[in-house]
Amino acid sequence: MGAGITAGATARLVVVPLLLLPLLLARGAEAVSLWRPPPEAGLLGSAPGRFLTQEEHWMSQTLDHFSPTDHRQFKQRYYEFLDYHRAPNGPVFLNICGEASCSGISNNYLAVMAKKFGAALVSPEHRYYGKSSPFEDLTTENLRFLSSKQALSDLAVFRQYYQETLNAKYNRSGADNSWFVFGGSYSGALSAWFRLKFPHLTCGSLASSGVVLAVYNFTDFDKQIGESAGPECKGALQEVTRLVDGQLQSGHNSVKELFGAKMLENDGDFLYLLADAAAIAFQYGNPDVLCSPLVEAKKNGTDLVEAFAHYVNDYYVGTFRAPVASYDQNYLKNTTPAESSYRLWWYQVCSEVAYFQVAPKNDSVRSAKIDTRYHLDLCKNVFGEGVYPDVSMTNLYYGGTRIAGGPFE
Ligand SMILES: *[C@@H]1O[C@H](CO)[C@@H](O)[C@H](O)[C@H]1NC(C)=O
Ligand SMILES: *[C@@H]1O[C@H](CO)[C@@H](O)[C@H](O)[C@H]1NC(C)=O
Ligand SMILES: *[C@@H]1O[C@H](CO)[C@@H](O)[C@H](O)[C@H]1NC(C)=O
Ligand SMILES: *[C@@H]1O[C@H](CO)[C@@H](O)[C@H](O)[C@H]1NC(C)=O
Repeated sequence: MGAGITAGATARLVVVPLLLLPLLLARGAEAVSLWRPPPEAGLLGSAPGRFLTQEEHWMSQTLDHFSPTDHRQFKQRYYEFLDYHRAPNGPVFLNICGEASCSGISNNYLAVMAKKFGAALVSPEHRYYGKSSPFEDLTTENLRFLSSKQALSDLAVFRQYYQETLNAKYNRSGADNSWFVFGGSYSGALSAWFRLKFPHLTCGSLASSGVVLAVYNFTDFDKQIGESAGPECKGALQEVTRLVDGQLQSGHNSVKELFGAKMLENDGDFLYLLADAAAIAFQYGNPDVLCSPLVEAKKNGTDLVEAFAHYVNDYYVGTFRAPVASYDQNYLKNTTPAESSYRLWWYQVCSEVAYFQVAPKNDSVRSAKIDTRYHLDLCKNVFGEGVYPDVSMTNLYYGGTRIAGGPFE
């Protein structure tokens, strides 16, 4: 699609994805994830030269774009990188930061394209995440301005604000550069939706792995894990699930200790940790680190649960740096957590997009206890009565896969 990007190009919405998971699986070490925001200190965050810049800039943003009477503002963080910009007329690439703290402008494929096309790179942080939170106390009441709709309006306001700063820099007024928006996963959906809602503000949009269709019971996630694992590894994972389920059923909570997860009192939270830990190996393109020891343990006749626990402790917690505590509903209930993105993303899940990763009825990899009920109970327990996602409204509003911001390419 690179060739489609030239200054002043005709209006285009490029929705790359729709085969959602396979693309998610293939994406490798990009630090965007709809399913688990990887903490910055982890595997994906520490490579030197990862950022072109981490110098913070701030703008004043409207808290509620849809209220005629509430004019409160908050500080939104953003980044800019102008070294490649062909001033003053080169295009502007807006990389949408998604459901995690945004720590800079990444030195990734977009940087390569920016260099090629003489583009300015800008990246605003998503409201509430990282340092762009309007509130210190993330009570359910205070979270009511956290939605994709508010986030899209933030992007529109940012786009206008930044265009004006560019114009001021070049002593121009009323000039308009060509803007392109980019995003992956949830921010991929935002990228497509931005083009849909504000077609006059962009020349094009790239929605990589763009999850434009909100799904309530997202059983395909688990199915894809099984498929990506292949029969042998899938069988071993299913055996682990059976064994762990059995131990919990007979009241043996000691199995949690094996995973350093004694604090997860709710069995569902513990089983979710195990399901995510397995999924991440495939989602981030590292299947062997999980499958090799499992298949080997199976062949050797050694303890499968121990082999899996070793992977979880060593890789998922040790290298990937997933905090076990982030699965604890008691932690998710904390309105001033050390790392807020887990509570924030769950709020978006519980209020707008769902993507409940429930076990399929048949042949699931994850425990059947991770069902719709588990998710709804979590939403209620963590955010209170009446917080549940109206997925059909989300899809009615944006159009789902029939999103009409075309022409498509
Ligand atoms: C913009 O105008 C100011 C004041 O007239 C001048 O000092 C500055 O050099 C100009 N900048 C550019 C980029 O032309
Ligand atoms: C989701 O699954 C639950 C439990 O199987 C079922 O009751 C519900 O109708 C499903 N909802 C949708 C929208 O598919
Ligand atoms: C399986 O057996 C091989 C060879 O005997 C040994 O090297 C390996 O460590 C064993 N693997 C596990 C997971 O026990
Ligand atoms: C359940 O899964 C098994 C194994 O993949 C398959 O053989 C069977 O046909 C499936 N049953 C249903 C009702 O889908």
